[in-house]
Amino acid sequence: MPFEPKQFIEDAVAQIKRTVGVGKAIIAVSGGVDSTVTAVLMNEALGKRCIAVFVDTGFMRKGEPESIRELAGNINMNLRFVDARSKFYKALKGVKEPERKRKIIGELFINIFEKIAKEERAKFLGQGTLAPDWIESGSGMRATIKSHHNVGGLPSGMKLKLVEPVRELYKDEVRKVGKELGLPEKICNRQPFPGPGLAIRIVGEANPEKVEIVREACAIVEEELEKAAARGEMELPWQYFAVLLPSRSVGVLGDKRAYGYTIAVRAVYSVDGMTAQYARIPDSILESISNRITRELKEDANRVVYDITSKPPACIEWE
Ligand code: XMP
Repeated sequence: MPFEPKQFIEDAVAQIKRTVGVGKAIIAVSGGVDSTVTAVLMNEALGKRCIAVFVDTGFMRKGEPESIRELAGNINMNLRFVDARSKFYKALKGVKEPERKRKIIGELFINIFEKIAKEERAKFLGQGTLAPDWIESGSGMRATIKSHHNVGGLPSGMKLKLVEPVRELYKDEVRKVGKELGLPEKICNRQPFPGPGLAIRIVGEANPEKVEIVREACAIVEEELEKAAARGEMELPWQYFAVLLPSRSVGVLGDKRAYGYTIAVRAVYSVDGMTAQYARIPDSILESISNRITRELKEDANRVVYDITSKPPACIEWE
């Protein structure tokens, strides 16, 4: 039977109502399609008894905090917006090792979220778990990838009951539900984004200055590739972004010597992130990405390289 988003929404809303009763539920939203669709379904079912929490870690994509606020306003969603940027930046000061960065971010996120759940006296926790997140593939690799996705997930010590309305769905189905719910195209078709966010797209210490650089570079890569795909010049890759490398190199800016950072552009085709092939981006598009990055980031970034490694052996992210 073909998937019917309209029917799915009706059933999911009724099911959430039955599960939560007169209680209160809380959900962490990140701007991604899974958590947004879950939050909107919960909002439909529970109204003000659903609290969507957006923790701004400082490592979100360009425009993400604004678009969450806008969406919440449009659909009358009860949003608690937590500006935790300085807490995250402070906790990561001087930390260079990728796994430590991940751990610090994950723990801090959970602390903040737990505190809010307690304040709100919520008894239920919404999660945007999808079928591939829990279906056992039997391979150790799946387990490893899944552990990545725990940032912002269920805090182990919390005594909350889970509400997972999209847990039987696959990504394409959740996107259809998003469309049916009237969510913007930008959210429905959003590429995957790692829980620790831009912090793992900065090789080494993720300080506020570097975050601004990589945020802008990521936005440029996204815009240029989305425009090229819309013009039919290439298929939109599965994931595409920029990484800020710690190495600086010599360049010229006007008639002065420059010494800026290097940006690596990463774009891959994949089905589930377990393996990936690097995308063959036409030269002209690589050139516009490079021109825009060096022009708009000026002395901050004066060199752009393209990552031509597939997974394995390289991971999709650099950290
Ligand atoms: P890797 O880099 O392991 O990435 O090849 C595979 C997919 O997982 C995403 N990824 C993460 N997602 N928290 C997440 O929620 C993480 O710590 C994390 N690390 C990687 C990555 O963006 C890709 O889609």
